Amino acid sequence: MSSKQFRISQRAERVAPFQAMEFAKHADALAASGAHVTRLNIGEPDFGAPPAFLDAIVDLADGRPMGYTPSVGISQLRTAIAASYRATDGVEIDPRRVCVTAGASAALLLCAAAVIDPGDRVLVADPSYPCNRQFAESFGADVALLPTSAATRFQLDLASIAAAWDEHTRGVMLASPSNPTGTSLSTTELAGICQFVEEREGWRIVDEIYLGLTHDDAGASSVLALDDDAIVVNSFSKVFGLTGWRLGWCVVPEALVPVIEKLAQNYYICPSAPTQYAALSCFEPETLAIAAERRGQIVARKNIVLQALSAMGLEVPVIPDGAFYVYVDISMTGLSSWEFCESALAQARVALTPGHDFGDHRANDFVRLSYAIGTADLVAGLERLAVFVGDQCSSPEPKS
Ligand SMILES: Cc1ncc(COP(=O)(O)O)c(C=O)c1O
Repeated sequence: MSSKQFRISQRAERVAPFQAMEFAKHADALAASGAHVTRLNIGEPDFGAPPAFLDAIVDLADGRPMGYTPSVGISQLRTAIAASYRATDGVEIDPRRVCVTAGASAALLLCAAAVIDPGDRVLVADPSYPCNRQFAESFGADVALLPTSAATRFQLDLASIAAAWDEHTRGVMLASPSNPTGTSLSTTELAGICQFVEEREGWRIVDEIYLGLTHDDAGASSVLALDDDAIVVNSFSKVFGLTGWRLGWCVVPEALVPVIEKLAQNYYICPSAPTQYAALSCFEPETLAIAAERRGQIVARKNIVLQALSAMGLEVPVIPDGAFYVYVDISMTGLSSWEFCESALAQARVALTPGHDFGDHRANDFVRLSYAIGTADLVAGLERLAVFVGDQCSSPEPKS
C-alpha cells in the first residue's frame, strides 16, 4: 500500500472505531496462526440463511436481468412487511410507509439524515449500540449519552429523559431489546417516553432489530402498537440470519416517506434486488417456523451461558429477555474490561467485546458476551473462560 497521506474530514476523524469489529480482527489474526478462537464477540447468529431464501436466490440466478429496484424497495416486500405488523402486533401499517433498506444500518443512516440538523441534541442510552449514535453525530448531532443502570434494565427511562430534555433536544434513539444488554423497555415505560417526546415535538427512533428475538414465547409488540408516529428500524439480519445479504427496513410517518426515498435514491439507489425478491420467502409459514425454532435454540444457549457465568462468580445484573447478548460485570476480577478482553483472547482464546464499545458509564466494569455461536463451541469457550477467570481470582497479586 502507498504511504501517501490524505487529508481526512473532521467528521470522519471523529468517528470512533467499532471495537467489536476491531476485536474480530484480533481474533482473526489469532485464528490465522492456527489457534481455535471461540467468538463470543460477534453479533451474528450461526444459523445462516433459511433454506427457502437460498432456494429463491438459486432460482433468481438464471441469467435474467437483475436491475435496480425502486429506492424504497419492491412493493411486494413492502406489503409483506406491513402485513407482518398486522399479524404480530395487530397494527395496520400503510405499506407505503415501509421503506426497504440495505440493512438496519442504512435505515438508521437515512432516518438520521432525514431528521437531524447540526447542533440538534439527541438522547441516547449508555450503554447502547455505538453505530446508531455515530450516524447521528455524522449529521452534526450533539449526542447526550445518558448513563443507565440495572435499575432501569440498562434502558433510558422517562425520568432520565425528562431530566435531560432541554430546548436544543430534538429526539431520542432507543433500542428494544438492546445491544449490548439484551434487555427490553417495558410497554408502559416506552409509552410514557413516546408521549413525553411527542408532546415536545421531538422524534423517537426505535431500533427493533432484535424484537423478533424476544425470548418470551408471547413476543413483544412493536412501538407502532402504541405510537403510530415513531420511526421504527428493523432488519432481516438477526431474526432470519441474513446479515451478509444486507436487508432491513424502516417504518416512517407518511410525511417522511418522500424524504427517505430521495435520500436512498442519492445515497445508494436501492437495496440489493435479489435479496429483496428472495426475502419474500421470510414471511412464508415454513420460514417463520424455522425462525421460531432458532429463537428457542438461542434461549437454550442463554441458559447455558447464565449458568456458566454464575459458576464463575461473574455477575449479570439484568437477565436478558431478548437478542443474544449478555452484559457481564467483570469488575470482581480486578481487570478493566479492555484488559479482560485482551487477556481472555490471548490466554483462553475467547473473543469478547469490552464495555467501551457501548458508552462510557462503567464501561471498565462490563464486557458483552454474544451467544450467537453453536452450542458445542459455546460450551468449550465457556470452559476455557472459567479457567481464565479462576486464574485471575486466585492470583496472589491484587489487581488495581
Ligand atoms: C442494535 C443494532 N442495530 C442495528 C444493527 C445493524 O444491523 P444490520 O445488519 O441490519 O445493518 C445492529 C447490528 O449488530 C444492532 O445490534
